[in-house]
Amino acid sequence: MSVFYGELAPLWPLISPVEEYAEEAAFFAKVLLQRLRPGAQVLELGCGGGHNAFHLKKHFQLTLTDLSDAMLAQSALLNPECAHHRGDMRTLDLGRTFDAVFVHDAVDSMTTTDELAQAMATAFRHLAPGGLALFVPDVFLESFDPATESGGSDGADGRSVRYLEWTHPLEPGATSGFVDYGFLVREADGSARVFHDRQRFGVFPRSTWLELLVEEGFEAEVIPEETADDRPPRSLLLATRR
Ligand SMILES: C[S@@+](CC[C@H](N)C(=O)[O-])C[C@H]1O[C@@H](n2cnc3c(N)ncnc32)[C@H](O)[C@@H]1O
Repeated sequence: MSVFYGELAPLWPLISPVEEYAEEAAFFAKVLLQRLRPGAQVLELGCGGGHNAFHLKKHFQLTLTDLSDAMLAQSALLNPECAHHRGDMRTLDLGRTFDAVFVHDAVDSMTTTDELAQAMATAFRHLAPGGLALFVPDVFLESFDPATESGGSDGADGRSVRYLEWTHPLEPGATSGFVDYGFLVREADGSARVFHDRQRFGVFPRSTWLELLVEEGFEAEVIPEETADDRPPRSLLLATRR
């Protein structure tokens, strides 16, 4: 398991505070509630620390899955009323269906079209005909920006985190790139530790997403995100199982 989603998982609330997910989660809920009843059963693939889930659970009954036990443990602290299962979104099979499957930024971990198709197939097998899959990748090839960002916050217990996120330019023709993270963790006693992690992410043209969804057996549409955040709006892929 990576440093980010392993050793640093308990610091997820300081790295990416749950309050910052409220606006986007409200939009995801609005999109889903145009097609689902309140209280519908929703499966999330790659729930991480459960920060989107914390807001979505006000509208839906959530089942939360992730590859990392440490991230699932964080989510279970925040969302004790939700079912949690360890599982890889490429292979997960819970043996049942849901009204919808939600896949947020964890889908960026799919670095080849084969892996992306596997994640779509996982969503498909957890839906009955007419069921919905909502994918929210951070980026498409068309909007990829090799930027450097920083963030972090201070905890009530005296711990603090600051990080640098350095996304590198893509090689020509690549379907994946990598991002280097530098973390500075300050403990309540004032001591500090430094961590490095490198994550590989997939980046695909929008047309590839749409073609793969159709091949998996979905009808798909692109929904522009509505956001007041100081960042380019994302594009959501809403897919209905035929
Ligand atoms: C940025 S975090 C997700 C945070 C989440 N959106 C939230 O609301 O807290 C990315 C997550 O993807 C998970 N992940 C990466 N590859 C995965 C895979 N193949 N299957 C399931 N989860 C995966 C990681 O373990 C990590 O928890």
